[in-house]
This record gives sequence, structure tokens and C-alpha cells, in this order.
Amino acid sequence: MCGIVGYIGQRAADSVLLDGLKRLEYRGYDSAGVALLDPDYSSDIQIVRRTGRVANLSDALKPGTNKSRMGISHTRWATHGDVTEVNAHPHSSSDGRFAMVHNGVIENHTSMRRFLESKGFVFKSQTDTEALVNLIAYHYDKETVQEPEKRFYEAVRKSLFHVEGTYGIAVVCKDCPDTLIGARRGSPLIVGVGKGEHLLASDVNAIASRTTNVIYLNDGEIALLNKDNFAISTTSDEGVEAVIHTVDWDTTDAELGNFSHFMEKEIFEQPQALQNGMRGRFADDGSTAMFGGLNLSPSELRLIDRIVFIGCGTAWHAGLVAEYLIERFARIPVEVEYASEFRYRNAPLDKNTLVVAMSQSGETIDTLAALREAKRKGYKTLAINNSVGSSIAREADGGIYQHAGPEIGVASTKAFTSQVMLAAMLALYLGRIRDLSYSDGAAMVEAFKSLPDLVSRTLTCAESIRKIAAKYSQYNDFLFLGRQEMFPIALEGALKLKEISYIHAEGYPAAEMKHGPIALICEECPSVFLATNGEIFQKTLANIQEIKARKGKVICILTENCDMPDDLVDDSVIVPEAHEAIQPILMSIPVQLLSYYIALERGCDVDKPRNLAKSVTVE
Ligand code: M6R
Repeated sequence: MCGIVGYIGQRAADSVLLDGLKRLEYRGYDSAGVALLDPDYSSDIQIVRRTGRVANLSDALKPGTNKSRMGISHTRWATHGDVTEVNAHPHSSSDGRFAMVHNGVIENHTSMRRFLESKGFVFKSQTDTEALVNLIAYHYDKETVQEPEKRFYEAVRKSLFHVEGTYGIAVVCKDCPDTLIGARRGSPLIVGVGKGEHLLASDVNAIASRTTNVIYLNDGEIALLNKDNFAISTTSDEGVEAVIHTVDWDTTDAELGNFSHFMEKEIFEQPQALQNGMRGRFADDGSTAMFGGLNLSPSELRLIDRIVFIGCGTAWHAGLVAEYLIERFARIPVEVEYASEFRYRNAPLDKNTLVVAMSQSGETIDTLAALREAKRKGYKTLAINNSVGSSIAREADGGIYQHAGPEIGVASTKAFTSQVMLAAMLALYLGRIRDLSYSDGAAMVEAFKSLPDLVSRTLTCAESIRKIAAKYSQYNDFLFLGRQEMFPIALEGALKLKEISYIHAEGYPAAEMKHGPIALICEECPSVFLATNGEIFQKTLANIQEIKARKGKVICILTENCDMPDDLVDDSVIVPEAHEAIQPILMSIPVQLLSYYIALERGCDVDKPRNLAKSVTVE
């Protein structure tokens, strides 16, 4: 989603800002822009905006030719107004004195705009952002304080009081070429603390190559930055003691290396991502997992009699797998809710309910709002999250970091398998403080330890999946079918294919097929079956036969040792057979690869699929 980078320091601001914007490209955007300030006060704020890629902006800007040492920049993902240069950020006030970039949605922008127009302000764009930057100019004119920096700060602060909605903003003022202001409510914003320079960004990734010292702003905080110092306060003008965190971020993690796409890289780095997620998380007795950050004692957890997982998209699918695994191994009833529904549904929850927010980015607005709603009602909350310091991680009562490394590809892959693994480890932990036996626990621990190797073995099927993808890439409808824990993997397979190949795909529990979807079966609609060995295999086989009887093509992802009749399926991929706690992870790998290779065959932009953003920070 939209990205923000701001800079004040001693280097060429245009180069720093463009570099930051390039590092945010993965979030998804449709236009980009920069505002630069002249250090000598001699000219107006220079604003350059372009639709399309950051490369277009770079061509227009010719980095290195500008002497500015401070500026703000943005990648926009349209919410209010079309994708045009005029609607791209930064936006300036009608007197040209202020420029601002903004993430979030100003819900009362129409009334703000009407008020400002009545005062003579002229609007150029259709955006909500332009209302706020003009409101800042309005308050600046009214401000009685004369000292420009204080006046600038007061104008921003007073304007934010009138905002209904969410914002992460970076603002500059022509009268203050030594001051950069940022503020947040509901949209992430961090301050990068460097030597003789400060940065603002919506995402650590944008600035990690410059500094690893960051301050995570909280909602309702304003950062006032100069080259050499900073001050954080609240919108009520109370000083805030800022905590500087050191982020553990290897910038090479966010580079492609020898891979063609981030999605490909992230699929193939799953063995390592999973290994990192389980490191140090098994108890010495070899029969259970342990987590440092739950902030709930075993006796408190024993009182929990219901768990609700909240999440969106792929994270919601990981929650569905968690439901099967926690109910099976810990015998605690689990429900899984779309965060966007949960936040407004006012669901009755029992008093001993634990709410677990699942989110890779930790910034998905619906998940964050649902988490806040659960906390407001007094429930205990946890987060399973891949972004250290993210809003969800900070606001949950406790949590489990995934340590899967940055996920850049819009289609979630390694974050999904890592969420499933951690949910399975949580099932083990909760089971062992209840009725799961030592030997069952020890068998699970052994299974987790073998997981990275099993994932590596599964990845060797890539070449055969590439061939299957070539054969099926021209079909426009797919069904993904699986039973029990394989049902969420079927949903995930359908989502992956949809989002990066633009192919219509649906996931169903295999037996549900007879209740409607079977009407779709024909030679033009292949089905991808996820079949594991065990008690349910014969049932899955019967479902496959129903499809074959209707001339449907079947691609089957199945575990070794499954007794699949010769020639029943058209194509198959064999996955190692493993403990049921980790089998869903192994079965996910072929569906990820299948969608990746089909998207390549169709010439799609795999890492930046149309209309999608990596982190959905607006409702
Ligand atoms: O960052 P989150 O895990 O909260 O993101 C949730 C969804 O937006 C995300 O999983 C989305 O569905 C992915 N594009 C799926 O690949």
C-alpha cells in the first residue's frame, strides 16, 4: 500500500528518497512523487510526480542534479481519485507554502474541503490529503506564534485535531527548510535516527540501508526532526520519551540475489525461514515448545477455553489450519474470523477466550482494528507476526514473532508456512499443558525438527510442477479441493492462483463439491486435489472419481504411500509423508509453485500483481 519516505540531513535528498521509494515498491503503488526544499530559501518547494513506476519519477528527477538536503516522497495506491499525476503525492497547500505526503484515509475530508473553499483555498486534486495540507496552511496563517518552526509544529498539531480517520504523514514547510514533521494515527510511521540525519518512513525496509536505529511512533504522536536532533510529542503537546530500537535487518534479505522474483526466492527460502522460526523454541525435555513472549503463564493459559483467530487473506487461511491443529492436539475449541467482519460483528465471546491476531505485516488495518476491539472488551490477545515493532506486535498483550525474514512478494508464501508452523507449535504447547502425552509431544517435536529438510525435499518437485504449469496455464477456471487440514490449503492455493495469474479459482472442502461446484466440472475446468494418506484418503479418492466421471482434468498433490489407482489422475506431484502437524506445510509448497509457474507462463508481473498491495493499511 502507499509508502512514505522523508529525509533531512547532509546527503542529496533526491537520491536518498528515490532509493527509499524503490525499496517500498513491493508494497504496491500506481504513482510516485517527491517534494524537495531549497536549503537557501530561494525558491518554491519543488514537487515532481509521475504515474507508474518509481523509474519514471527517477527519469524526471535526474537524481544528483538537485542541491536539496531535505524532502518527502511517496508511492501512492489510489483510494480517493483516479491514478493521475495531479492526484499523486506530495500535495501542496494552495499558497505553495506546505507539501505533504499521506497514508490512510481522512474520512471528513469533504466537510474540511468545503470549509477551506469558503475561506478561499483552491483545490487541484480529488484527494483527501489536499484537504489536510490546506488545513495546515489555514492554521499556520492563524497562528500567533511567530517563530517559524514552532508555528509550523502548532499548525500541524492543531490541524490533526480535526481529522476523522487515519493518517501517517510527512510534512514540509517552505519557511522551515531545516524542519521535517511526521505524525501518525492508524497508519505506520517510523523515525530513522542517523548521524547528522533523520528519516521518516512507513516501513523499516525503506531506510534500513541508512540506519538500523528506529523509533516506532505511536498513534497520536508527532515527530519534529532536524538534521541533528529530534523531538517526539503527542497531539496534545505533551513530550514523549522516545525509545530507540535497533532493528535486526539484513538488507540483502530484501534483495533478489540469483532469483528472478521475490516470490520465487521466498518459496525457496522456506527451509531457512522455518528453521529460524523454531530456533530456541523447544524445551529441554524434548516434548514441548516454548515461547518467550506470550506474557501468559501456563496456569493462565489452562483457563482459556476458547481461541478466536483473526486475520485477512492468507493469514486467515493460516488461522483455519490452526483451528484443525489446536482442536486436535490441545482439544481447545477454535474459531477463525475474518478480521474485517469481527471488528464490526460484536460477536459474543466467553470470558475465557483468547484472541490471536495473525498478520505477516502487522499493519493490516482490519486485523489491527479487530485486535483493538478484542482488547477494548478485555480479552487476552496474542499476535503471530513477522514484523518486529509493527503496530499489531506492539498492541497485542503478547506474541510470537515469526522470524521468517522480510517478505517482499505480494503473494504471501514463506510467511504463510511459518504462521502454520508456529500455530502447530502453539498447539503442541497448549496440548502439553493439558492432556497431550509426553510421547505424543516428543513425536511432534521430532517432526518440527525434520521440517526444514522435508521442505527442501518437497522443493525438488519444482521442475515437474513447472511442466504441469505449462500444460495448464491457458485454462481460465480452476477448483482446489481438499479435506480436513487440506481444505485451508485448497483455499490458499486458489487465492495464490487468483492473485498472481488473474485466473478464476475457488477452494472447497472436497465433499462440498457435490453441493454445487460440481456443475462447473468440464474439460475446461481442471481440479487440483490435495490428498494425504490416512483415514480420509478413500473419501478423497471417491471425490476424484466423481470429477473424472464428468471429464474433468485432475492434478493431484498427494503424499507418498497413497494408494492412487494408475491413470486415475491426469498429473500428480508427490510430497513426503509426514506428521499431521506439519503435513499442511509440505502440501502448501506445490500449490505455491504451481501458481508461480502458471503466472510466469501467462507473462504476469508476479511480484506486483495488478490492484494488489503488500500491506493493506486502509479499510
Ligand atoms: O500482512 P497480513 O498478513 O496481515 O496480510 C493479510 C493479507 O492482506 C495477505 O495475506 C494477502 O491475502 C496476501 N496477498 C496473500 O498472498
